[in-house]
This record gives sequence, structure tokens and C-alpha cells, in this order.
Amino acid sequence: MNRYGVVTFDGPAASGKSSVAQRVAQVVDLPVVSSGLLYRAATLVAERASIDVDDAAAVMAVLAGHHVDLDPAPGGNRVTIDGDEVTEALHTDEVDALVSAVARHDAVRDWVGERLRSIRPPFVIDGRDMGSVVFPDATHKFYLTASPEVRALRRVGERAADLERVAAAIRRRDALDAKQLRPASDAVRIDTDALSLDEVVTVVLDRLRGTPTVGSVGRDG
Ligand code: DC
Repeated sequence: MNRYGVVTFDGPAASGKSSVAQRVAQVVDLPVVSSGLLYRAATLVAERASIDVDDAAAVMAVLAGHHVDLDPAPGGNRVTIDGDEVTEALHTDEVDALVSAVARHDAVRDWVGERLRSIRPPFVIDGRDMGSVVFPDATHKFYLTASPEVRALRRVGERAADLERVAAAIRRRDALDAKQLRPASDAVRIDTDALSLDEVVTVVLDRLRGTPTVGSVGRDG
């Protein structure tokens, strides 16, 4: 039995949480769950039904008619709707454009939380509110942050022309996601602005293995 239970990684878009979660999961030999996939699956169900995604009751009504399942398979998460694999269809422009609106509904968040809590631990999971809402009793909680500028840079590379536009989009997205982005009070916060992916992974692994570090790590920590 792996001693880790549930290990959560939360943080805003492009904070590096899914890359860090994947690398850490690989090292400690645990499956990794990407909670965003269930929001994407709910969005795909709503999109296929051509309903108004701002209408929470309509979204919940179509979700009730389908069986959505996430399998944290070692080779990558697989998502099925009524038994049909849809994993590839979850990262289209259409789903990208609608998923924030779907993820804002409390009823949808409860629906996703229920499915995530039915996955048998141990696992590593990334999302927005895994440590604060879905798994308040997780054994280890991490919250990754980075400034909008650094996150934009990671997204677009060095193309300065796009940088300000992408940083502005990231700020807008943070504002939309503000409610679910509140970190759990007992999460280890890591400011990744001045850290490489390898360095963040090292900080996390030190923590998991019991090396004492301060509660807030990074540029200002
Ligand atoms: O991580 P991702 O890009 O696949 O997430 C897709 C969307 O779902 C994104 O708009 C944020 C939202 N989301 C959320 O609200 N809560 C989570 N735990 C995970 C994702």
C-alpha cells in the first residue's frame, strides 16, 4: 500500500500544476488524475445537446441522462461517456471556449466532486479546488502560483508581441475563476516564478519525503 493517500495540486491556469503533478506521480509511482477532464466532459455533453451552458438546470438535466466515467489509467486518464471513449475530443476549441461557463455552476462542481471522490486512493490529482473543497482531508496539499507575466511566458515562449495579450487573458481567466482558486489554508504554497519545473518537483518531493521546508516556498518564501 502506497503511503501517500491523496496528494493535491491546485493553482491557476498555466501555473505548472499538471506538469508538476505528472512528474511527481511518476516518481512516487502513483496514478495522476486531471480533474479538469471531468469539467471538459460535462462541457462536451452540454455542447452535443446544444443547450445554453449558462443555464445550470439545463446542464444538470443533460448530465443526468449520461454516464460519465474517468479512469486514471497508468498511460493517461481515459474519459468515457456512456461507455464511448471521448478523451481526444475534450481539448477542442469549442470545449475550451465553453468550459469556464460550465465549471462555474455549483451543481456541476458537486457533480465533478462526487465522481472524483469515487476514485479509490492513492493518487495524485490536479485542479483548482482539490485541497480546499473536494479532498479537504488529503494527506498532502500543494498550491502553485506564478505571476500572470511568467505564466504567459510559459504559454507563448519568448514571442514578446503575444506576451501582453496572453497575460491579459490570464488575468481575465483568474478573475473568472477567483472563487474556486482560493487555496486551502493548510496547503504548501509554492511561488514558481523563479523556479524551473525540476526545482518545483524537488521542493514537492522533499516535502512528501518529510524534509522540513517553510510553509511558503519560492521567490518571496
Ligand atoms: O485544467 P483544465 O484546463 O483541463 O481545466 C478545464 C477547465 O475546468 C478550466 O476552465 C478550469 C476548470 N476547472 C475547475 O474549475 N476546477 C478544477 N478542479 C479543474 C478545472
